[in-house]
Amino acid sequence: MSGTPLLEVSDLVVHYPAGKGKVVHAVEGVSFSVNAGELVALVGESGCGKTTTAQSVMRMVHSTAGTIRVDGRDITNLSAGELRPLRREMQIIFQDPYESLDPRFKVRDTVAEPLEIHGVPREERDARVHDALVRAGLTPPKLYLDRFPHELSGGQRQRVAIAAALALEPKLLLADEPVSMLDVSIRAGILGLLDEQRRAGLGILMITHDLSTAAHYADRICVMYLGRIVEEGPAKEVVRNPQHPYTRALVSVVPKRDPRLTTQPQILKGETPNPVAVPSGCRFHPRCPVAQAQCRTDDPPLSTARDAREAGHRSACLFT
Ligand SMILES: Nc1ncnc2c1ncn2[C@@H]1O[C@H](COP(=O)(O)OP(=O)(O)OP(=O)(O)O)[C@@H](O)[C@H]1O
Ligand SMILES: [Mg+2]
Repeated sequence: MSGTPLLEVSDLVVHYPAGKGKVVHAVEGVSFSVNAGELVALVGESGCGKTTTAQSVMRMVHSTAGTIRVDGRDITNLSAGELRPLRREMQIIFQDPYESLDPRFKVRDTVAEPLEIHGVPREERDARVHDALVRAGLTPPKLYLDRFPHELSGGQRQRVAIAAALALEPKLLLADEPVSMLDVSIRAGILGLLDEQRRAGLGILMITHDLSTAAHYADRICVMYLGRIVEEGPAKEVVRNPQHPYTRALVSVVPKRDPRLTTQPQILKGETPNPVAVPSGCRFHPRCPVAQAQCRTDDPPLSTARDAREAGHRSACLFT
């Protein structure tokens, strides 16, 4: 693997104004990287800052601090004009395939639009649209080219969104909950498709709140809690040997295949956290089953986990 990651996010901070001088601490010092041919999952409960992280990488949201590098190039402060050529290299797909497609556009136009915007010559476009549909599993393409979104199933719509994202042959794909709106029976098809693209060299950041999906498809998992990454490591290792008490709670509620392996589900106590008033010390301490007095004052950094069995397994807890 080459030295420079495809995507490198360092100390990203995103604050939103919340009125009356208050601030939403949506992302509070997040660092991670994605290599070519790697799928990294960003996991965590609703409101912890996953979408904000992805949208700031795309520069759809203004970051308050930190740097975003793509292929080693700092893109954090590029102007819209300077960003434009880079847009070809990074694409995003969203959670809701019903909202992300323009209902007035046929499949052919949806997939051709990014090609047109980026100046791909007209005579090349048909072939590129055809290829993108094949890559997205919509075969034979002629069956789909002239359909409108309302003439497609939810799974097919998400495949069209993926085809439109792949048409420009990006290096990096940000997939924000790409299957959460889809029926369970078609999720595996879409995730398998992303997995194939990863094997072909695409770097993917996949946002999901489903730890078992992350364990199955990701190379690495980053667990987010209230704007921070509290644990990260090789995917299987994070799930089999979770270190942070928050990750342990998440793992404890994942249904096990082997009924003998049932663990006591750990339901987190306390209220869901409020990013306007972040707790002092370790931000997880009000809900942590093993918190001690020190956790109220000391904010633990992400560092090598005490019981780490594999390289790169890190956790942000004073006691694990
Ligand atoms: N434009 C905005 N203005 C103010 N606050 C925002 C804005 N967008 C998001 N937030 C807040 O920032 C926090 C993080 O939101 P974000 O959408 O990144 O969470 P998420 O992890 O993607 O959640 P979900 O799993 O529900 O999609 C939330 O508290 C949210 O209310
Ligand atoms: Mg989100």
